Amino acid sequence: MDNAIAGFSKLSKEEKINWIAKEYFSNPEEAISTIKNYWNSDVKLQKLHDDFIENTITNFYLPLGIAPNFLINGKFKTIPMVIEESSVVAAAANAAKFWSKRGGFKATVLNTEKIGQVHFIYKGDALKLEQFFTEKKSTFFTETESITKNMQKRGGGILDIVLNNKTHLLENYYQLHATFDTKDSMGANFINSCLEQFAKTLKSEAATFEAFSAEEKGLQVVMSILSNYVPNCLVRAEVSCKVEELGDKNISNPHDFAEKFVRAVQIATVEPYRAVTHNKGIMNGIDAVVLATGNDFRAVEAGIHAYASKNGSYSSLSHAKIENGIFSFWIEIPLALGTVGGLTSLHPLVKLALQMLENPSAKELMEIVAVAGLAQNFAALRSLTTNGIQQGHMKMHLGNIINQLEASDAERILILNHFKDNTVSHAAVVEFVQDLRKVKL
Ligand code: MEV
Repeated sequence: MDNAIAGFSKLSKEEKINWIAKEYFSNPEEAISTIKNYWNSDVKLQKLHDDFIENTITNFYLPLGIAPNFLINGKFKTIPMVIEESSVVAAAANAAKFWSKRGGFKATVLNTEKIGQVHFIYKGDALKLEQFFTEKKSTFFTETESITKNMQKRGGGILDIVLNNKTHLLENYYQLHATFDTKDSMGANFINSCLEQFAKTLKSEAATFEAFSAEEKGLQVVMSILSNYVPNCLVRAEVSCKVEELGDKNISNPHDFAEKFVRAVQIATVEPYRAVTHNKGIMNGIDAVVLATGNDFRAVEAGIHAYASKNGSYSSLSHAKIENGIFSFWIEIPLALGTVGGLTSLHPLVKLALQMLENPSAKELMEIVAVAGLAQNFAALRSLTTNGIQQGHMKMHLGNIINQLEASDAERILILNHFKDNTVSHAAVVEFVQDLRKVKL
């Protein structure tokens, strides 16, 4: 394509599809047919999905799987997970079953504070700015009352606003740093609306503050936005048992296993290359539940990885120890989640996922998500420190290879049988299928 297209968003859905099909595909009819294959026949449901974003042409499916038997704080939960990676749900279900026989998961929300900031440039006397803020602080609260009224009824609202002098980092840079309690909503809209009002109040109050010079009165708001770094919106999940209770069919020597496991976590604590992969495994569980429950996984990812670097170097999100013969494994992560607002009442599958979780509060969802992350990490480390991950992973991936090779039902049965006792690799499956097909000829 040599030239930009003007007014694309104004085209109808059909026109957009025709344009894209002609522009990028040697067989436009085939592309159009693939796109339309994923449309929902329920026109109302399709319209709902079309309206989530701009320029929707079709739906993009990901599987919604469920991992049962999660014993969390004494209650069994079935966790919905949206993910494309073959072995993740099976690993979660395995870890859930394993720990359900060893006391289950304990999870606690440590705090739930969200953060937003108004970043501004003020060229003037810092002491005068402090005096201004002290005098005008209550105005920031009164001028946001129409926004905070409903949230306050639910027990939330603005917790505090402070003025931060950041001029040691950037010339003339100050910020209003506000903390919020957004109860069961993730709160992004609420926080951003409050912040934009703070910015207006800041400008108008500064413009008429007598002690300010003309330049000080003209302070410049650069932007007002929530922070996805929420180190005071924290949840902890943990498992523990006597070391000897760790034994099962895959763990013949629980003492060696526990020590190797703790060593693996220590490696991820000190070695960033390993920490990133270790935490990626944790995010397999976290993102899958965050997605299934209609939450913002990019916000969660950004916040969690920042938290993993809070001591100056990227490190493990999970921790493990053996003390007095007890093996303990735990995770502490920041999670800004909502169970009301956003997609939660709009997307039918999100509603269903939340119902499956017995309509949790945001705090309960934080606990469930942290547990899913810890379970995933346990499953990964158990495989890595015993048989390696490829055995389980490739077994789960076998279905994908079979689909790629367009195997018939009869071939599928033969392949599954053969690979019950043989190592799965892409090449081995291709060879086996080629041999099968040769025999047929
Ligand atoms: C794969 O998606 C995740 C793992 O690499 C995590 C880990 O190495 O701990 C298995």
